[in-house]
Amino acid sequence: MAETIPDLRKVPKARAYAELQGHSDAILDSVDDEIAAMATIATLVHHSFGHLWTGFYRVIEPGQLLRVGPYQGSLGCIDIAFGRGVCGDAAAGGKTVIVRDVEKYPGHITCDARSRSEIVVPVFGKRGDLIAVLDIDSDRLDAFDGEDARGLEQLVSRFAH
Ligand code: SME
Repeated sequence: MAETIPDLRKVPKARAYAELQGHSDAILDSVDDEIAAMATIATLVHHSFGHLWTGFYRVIEPGQLLRVGPYQGSLGCIDIAFGRGVCGDAAAGGKTVIVRDVEKYPGHITCDARSRSEIVVPVFGKRGDLIAVLDIDSDRLDAFDGEDARGLEQLVSRFAH
């Protein structure tokens, strides 16, 4: 495997996401397996940015239930209902949710006490249906902004094609 995981912790976000997209495209070019792609994206994002937790919650019952999928980091919760926590809210609304301070988010589900901020991005499949959410936790306050949302939404748009 020629690809290695880049260290993007000190790279400006727009450039970092462009580079990450290149790695993801190169590795997953001919991969048509959702779990393999989710595992690869979780690993790439997690280690290149040095996040606390990075992973997917998959839609098990549309409109009802998310279940943990491929992830990196400490133990994640197994099941999350739509409309519960940040993941459930992003799934129910079909929109990216950025949480600058998890302590100020009503209903936030704590899986790792070190988490300070979080972003959750919806993942749509080929039929335009929600198939998962990508959840990322940071041990820093206010770690995520619109550039992360754009970069991550672009990264997971592969599942729709
Ligand atoms: N904090 C999330 C739960 C998942 S863990 O962060 C891995 C939430 O509130 O939905």
